[in-house]
Amino acid sequence: MANITFKLNGKSQTLTADPQMPLLWALRDVIGLTGTKYGCGVGQCGACTVHLNGMAVRSCQLPISSLANQEVTTIEGLSQKGDHPVQKAWLDHDVAQCGYCQAGQMMSAASLLKTNPNPSDADIDAFMSGNLCRCGTYLRIKEAIKSVAQ
Ligand code: FES
Repeated sequence: MANITFKLNGKSQTLTADPQMPLLWALRDVIGLTGTKYGCGVGQCGACTVHLNGMAVRSCQLPISSLANQEVTTIEGLSQKGDHPVQKAWLDHDVAQCGYCQAGQMMSAASLLKTNPNPSDADIDAFMSGNLCRCGTYLRIKEAIKSVAQ
């Protein structure tokens, strides 16, 4: 067991846990933030995407030992009232179908737009390729991202 302190959604968070515990498990089972989803557990689907210091990462592949003094943002912390431009675009474009992958999709989209405010179709395809959607909402995802692009 180890004590690990990091910033989570803007507030200091200390965990006493196995340092090898993946962040996804800590978020869902220890802290109780269940917006981040378990899909594959092996870094292949993107359902567990969160931001680490503003960049999209797979929380199922991130041991909490790597988080000391880092800043983690989950879908719960992406905005105060669900009003991040990406969240609003998702609603405007009716993106979600079953919804399971959509928190991860939005976290990836927000990360993309932060580093590349006007991505091309190819940029969107490349960046979002690690986020799988079994309902096939990819066209709506792309339209939503393009609507936020400047
Ligand atoms: Fe982490 Fe699938 S649950 S990538």
